[in-house]
Formats: sequence, structure tokens, C-alpha cells
Amino acid sequence: MKLFLDTAKLDEIRRAAAWGVIDGVTTNPSLIARERAPIEDRIREICGIVDGDVSAAVVSKDWEEMTHEGRLLSRIHSNVVVKLPLTRDGIRACSILSKEGIRTNVTLCFTAAQALLAAKAGAYIVSPFVGRLDDIGAPGLDLVRDIAAIYKTAGFGTLILAASLRSPMKVTGAAKAGAHIATVTFPVLEALFEHPLTQKGLDQFLSDYASTFQETAVG
Ligand code: E4P
Repeated sequence: MKLFLDTAKLDEIRRAAAWGVIDGVTTNPSLIARERAPIEDRIREICGIVDGDVSAAVVSKDWEEMTHEGRLLSRIHSNVVVKLPLTRDGIRACSILSKEGIRTNVTLCFTAAQALLAAKAGAYIVSPFVGRLDDIGAPGLDLVRDIAAIYKTAGFGTLILAASLRSPMKVTGAAKAGAHIATVTFPVLEALFEHPLTQKGLDQFLSDYASTFQETAVG
């Protein structure tokens, strides 16, 4: 499973990229707005840091404008994936852009039926929002499992990107449920590192070593 970072913050992307564990980046209009940076500039900067898929969302509501916007976004960099909402207009724009060879990420997916439409429209990626379903008492990972089963049975090539993952358990759950990609915020990425026994074990190893070899400098 690939791991993407869900952010428009350059410092977070640089730090995560330096660990060598990030395969791409997802952004959305809220994340871009929080940075107060023009979307084209910010997406170009992100593409300069990460050599992988970078999702950039359209902000218009009508299919013609979405299609136009999608074409412009796709020209920023060859790694740009045009993010479209799972609406009638978004799906129509997805069909058009897909036929032109422009890769799309159909987002705000909350049902398997919606995911079916995204695949039919030729989406490169579909993004089920796990955490937002959990928020309303529906099991978000069940949706990922259902989409994976449907895509396998039907032979669809659309990639499943588990989004809105709010904890390490949801990330591993998404991997087990059949997601091809998980996108996480920087705090969730940092949480993936953590286990109290890792630090405790390391402290013990280093103190045992130091107490035996304290007078021997290495190197
Ligand atoms: C993914 O592409 C979305 O930007 C993101 O995962 C949404 O997460 P949220 O529900 O925590 O806002």
C-alpha cells in the first residue's frame, strides 16, 4: 500500500519526504486555503519536493468549468492528479478528462455505489472518506472493504485511496481492507512511529552499552 501525505504545508512535506516513506501528496481546497497560497504555485512547489502523485482539486461546480480547470491543473506537472467531487458534474468532468488521458481522483466518496460510478467514469483514484463516516456512526473501513470487493469482481483498475484516516489503527485497517493508498495528516504520520516499548527498549540498549564501554570512544 502506498502512503500519501494529506497536507498543503511545505515544511510537513519536506520532513516526511526526508524519512523516505511518502509516495505522494493529497490536497483539498480547505488545506490550500489554510496556507493562503495560490493553488498553482503551491502544487508546483509540492511537485518539486515529492516525486509521486499530487492531487490538486478543482473548485468550480459546473462540469465545463471543472473540465477546464482540470486541464489547467494537469499542465502544472506530470505528477498532478485532478481531484473532482463525486457529483454528477464531477463524474461528467471525470469521464471527459479520463478520455483525454488526464488522471483523476474522485473524492468525497461515501458509498460503494458512488465508487462504482467513479470507476465507470474512468477515475484513476477514488477516495472513500473513512473518518467522516466514522464521525456519523457508520463504519468507514467497511466501505473500503466493499469497494475493494466490487472492484475485484468487476475487474476495475481504479485505485482505492483511503482518506480521512485519523489514527494509526485506521491506516493499518485500510491496508487490510484492500486500500491501494492511504493518505494521512502529518500528526497521524508521526503517530505511526510511536510505541512506548520502542523508546524503552532503545534507552535500555544504549544505557547497557554505555555502562560497559563508557571509556571506549567508537570511531
Ligand atoms: C483526502 O483527500 C482529504 O483531503 C482528507 O483525507 C479529508 O480528511 P478530513 O475528513 O480529516 O478532513
